Amino acid sequence: MTLWLAFAVYCLQIFPYANSATYHAKGDYHCNNCCRGLPGPQGVPGLPGLHGGRGQDGMMGPKGDKGEMGFKGSTGSQGLPGDDGAKGQRGRKGTKGECGPQGPIGPKGDMGPRGYAGSTGTPGPKGEKGSRPPRIAFTVSRSEPLGPVMQKVPVTFDKIHTNLGDSFDVYSSHFICKTNGTYMFMVHVLSAENRTAYGWIMLNNDHQMAFHGDADARHGTGSNTIILHLVRDDHVWVQLNENSALLNHFSSFSGYILFED
Ligand SMILES: *[C@@H]1O[C@H](CO)[C@@H](O)[C@H](O)[C@H]1NC(C)=O
Ligand SMILES: *[C@@H]1O[C@H](CO)[C@@H](O)[C@H](O)[C@H]1NC(C)=O
Repeated sequence: MTLWLAFAVYCLQIFPYANSATYHAKGDYHCNNCCRGLPGPQGVPGLPGLHGGRGQDGMMGPKGDKGEMGFKGSTGSQGLPGDDGAKGQRGRKGTKGECGPQGPIGPKGDMGPRGYAGSTGTPGPKGEKGSRPPRIAFTVSRSEPLGPVMQKVPVTFDKIHTNLGDSFDVYSSHFICKTNGTYMFMVHVLSAENRTAYGWIMLNNDHQMAFHGDADARHGTGSNTIILHLVRDDHVWVQLNENSALLNHFSSFSGYILFED
């Protein structure tokens, strides 16, 4: 505004004559033949003109200098994976690994060959004195004739030659086992004249071994032997069959232990 006021004052000072000339021209027009008066006082300066319209664009200026380098941008998002690379070369041999844990017990192996015989050991200490082995033995015989008998009968023996261990029972004429073990028994008979002597060695109620003396021999003889395993309370005895007869003094019954159990 100040600029426009200054410009207006400047114009008035430059063209004061023009203004008066205008007045002069008008005065000439209205009063062409009038006498001319004195020039009037200077008019009041006019108001500033209206704001002018926008001017045309100026000519394009020269190209500016190259700007400075910009700031580094932020990191972009990760790209897609690339194709597999070519197979690499074989690497160098690695260092030996640590020893693994102990494995399970394997199957039992085959039996090895028989070893050599060992050397003889030193004798052991002398043992305690053993118990005295049993002494069981007997021999008995008849002093009287027997028969002929009407039925099977046990032969009794009245003469006791030996009875070690007291296992022959003189009342029943049975050997009665007191000690378990293995025993041997023998019987021998002589028949009465023209009579048979036929009988058995008995174990309890069982016939074990026969003997026979024939009547046709006039004095027949019969004998037999047996080895028996006996346990306590077993009975061994001599049985004579019916119609048999024995002579006196010649029939005997013997036995003894072989091994104790
Ligand atoms: C036994 O038989 C014989 C022959 O037959 C005879 O000679 C003998 O007299 C008989 N003895 C007795 C005791 O019968
Ligand atoms: C004898 O044998 C019998 C029958 O086998 C048995 O019961 C008993 O114990 C035995 N006695 C001894 C002293 O061995």
